[in-house]
Amino acid sequence: MSDIIKISNYIKPFRKTIRIEGDKSLSIRWALMASQAKGKSTCYNLLKSEDIISTLNCLKKLGIKVKIKKDKCEIYGNGLNSFNLKEKITLDAGNSGTLARLLPGLLVHSKKKIIIKGDKSLSKRDFYRIVKPLEKFGASLKTKKGKLPMTIEGTKFPKPITYFEKKGSAQCKSCIMFAALNTKGTTTIKAKKSRDHSELLFKYLNLPIKVIKTKKHDIIKLNGKKKVRPFNYRIPSDISSSAFFIVLTVLSNKSSLVIKSVNINPTRIGILKILKKMNVNFIIKNTKVLNGEKIGDLHIFSSQSLRPINCPTNFNTAAIDEFLLIFLIAARANGISTFKNLSELNQKESPRLKWGSKLLNKIGIKNIITSDSIKIFGNPNLIVKKKIVIKDFDKDHRVFMTSVIAALTFGGNWKIYDKNSIKTSFPSFLRKIKDLGAKIN
Ligand code: S3P
Repeated sequence: MSDIIKISNYIKPFRKTIRIEGDKSLSIRWALMASQAKGKSTCYNLLKSEDIISTLNCLKKLGIKVKIKKDKCEIYGNGLNSFNLKEKITLDAGNSGTLARLLPGLLVHSKKKIIIKGDKSLSKRDFYRIVKPLEKFGASLKTKKGKLPMTIEGTKFPKPITYFEKKGSAQCKSCIMFAALNTKGTTTIKAKKSRDHSELLFKYLNLPIKVIKTKKHDIIKLNGKKKVRPFNYRIPSDISSSAFFIVLTVLSNKSSLVIKSVNINPTRIGILKILKKMNVNFIIKNTKVLNGEKIGDLHIFSSQSLRPINCPTNFNTAAIDEFLLIFLIAARANGISTFKNLSELNQKESPRLKWGSKLLNKIGIKNIITSDSIKIFGNPNLIVKKKIVIKDFDKDHRVFMTSVIAALTFGGNWKIYDKNSIKTSFPSFLRKIKDLGAKIN
């Protein structure tokens, strides 16, 4: 079957209520944490995407029993540090940076050498960020100049560490937290603010964790070697997947959309804070707390008179996966927007800051890009009429989906390659877009 789609029509006005698939960060964290509990943990609404399948396959290779049922997933953990390790295990993390960076934390105490590999895109990404702290615990790691494949050999006596995480990488922070879980004593992490799903999960499970919040950093203190109880968990909808539908609605004519039960953890809603400043029309209703995570229903409306933004850099980590979409809003805004300190964006599944600029060039929006910033000259009257081809983007799921949103809202005749990339994070993306009335061939 062809992996190319074609779009040559705007989406017609729509008014609907939808549900988006489960959150990717939470799904991976649930599975990894459940593997450390002794007994059966059950998860509802686990995201069924390739990143999660890779996670479950890695756990199975490590001797963990996993049962996927129609409406739930069960993991039968063997307790802390009790993976069943055979000689020369190779784990395939596929496209998932979160898996490849969090799982090594659980191997800091392991008795055998384990190799972690990934696909072409993951093999281009930086792993020094986890090698350094894990070596401090006492583990031995080998990489190809900081890249995968990586070999990790745990130590019999991991030592608790004190570490300053400066990048604002939740993956790095969570890797250290998982290593600390398997280490006797108190590990202290000073971390530049980033998504706090791991901290909330540790708290939800009553594990001994203390978090002190300062303006720019969180200080996390964690006592390891405490038993993890098996637990039931429900995953709310993913705000990063919802973001495609938020921006589709904002940029469409006379449309409105309700997205039910979305995770609105304050460390994930940078996009909402940025869009509010850009005069986007939305409200959040029915907020509540589910398993320690805040959720709510998002009501989004088509928005005219979009304002440009000089984006506060303290929004960056909470919006890190949504910038391609935010750039589309800036393209429609009435004036010049600037986004700074975004070097981490080029460290994703593809160099996304560069791809943001390329997409804008393709639709005829002037922009100036540096290694860590972009200035976007918005045009509220933009109508695209030409042929646009999007390919060779390292199969980055977010580049593919952002291109679809641009095609449906700015016009033009689009040919977009690598539609299977959506399987990484959001397999039902195209079906859901079509359900709203989009014509896609
Ligand atoms: C994630 C953290 C972010 C994000 C990624 C998922 C997580 O990466 O981009 O999609 O689940 O912890 P960094 O921690 O590398 O910024």
